[in-house]
Amino acid sequence: AFAVAACSPTAEPPAEPPLAGADIGGPFELVNQDGETVRWQDFDGQYRIVYFGFTYCPDICPNDVQRMSQGLRMFAESDPESAAQVQSIFISVDPERDTPEIVGEFAAAFSDDLIGLTGSPEQVKTAADNFRVFYSRGENTPGGGYLVDHSAVVYLFGPSGEPLATLPTDLGAQAVAAELAKWVS
Ligand code: NI
Repeated sequence: AFAVAACSPTAEPPAEPPLAGADIGGPFELVNQDGETVRWQDFDGQYRIVYFGFTYCPDICPNDVQRMSQGLRMFAESDPESAAQVQSIFISVDPERDTPEIVGEFAAAFSDDLIGLTGSPEQVKTAADNFRVFYSRGENTPGGGYLVDHSAVVYLFGPSGEPLATLPTDLGAQAVAAELAKWVS
């Protein structure tokens, strides 16, 4: 019986999360859609999905946020109890244009459960640095706008704020749901 159990795939110890021990994440103080201060430690006890982007992004950000939200909904269909412990967070890297109201509307367009955060340029810079996210002003666009070049990484963190994995939005919502199922329990 012992030998059989040892060969069973379910008896294998869970693999180490790919980002275990990485120096990613950390304190921030930002502003939500109601103008209230939100801190990283406010989410203690919850898993967190974190993505940095900007609401005027023509393609990448809406795609990533769409797939991360859809992936979380698919995960919730298969495991509602675990999914209820996950908070998804969008953080703007374009504080000049992304007011609390605009970020709130952007987040609400994808999911009732997505929190949109922005802040002063200094607050955003601190948060991005702590999450190893790069951003800088890019090309001007017709009509007086501009792009923001930025890292497009969807992070998953555990209940103590520890980094666990990145979510493969490039592979689609189903892959996001599968990755969540691996690490959220
Ligand atoms: Ni973008």
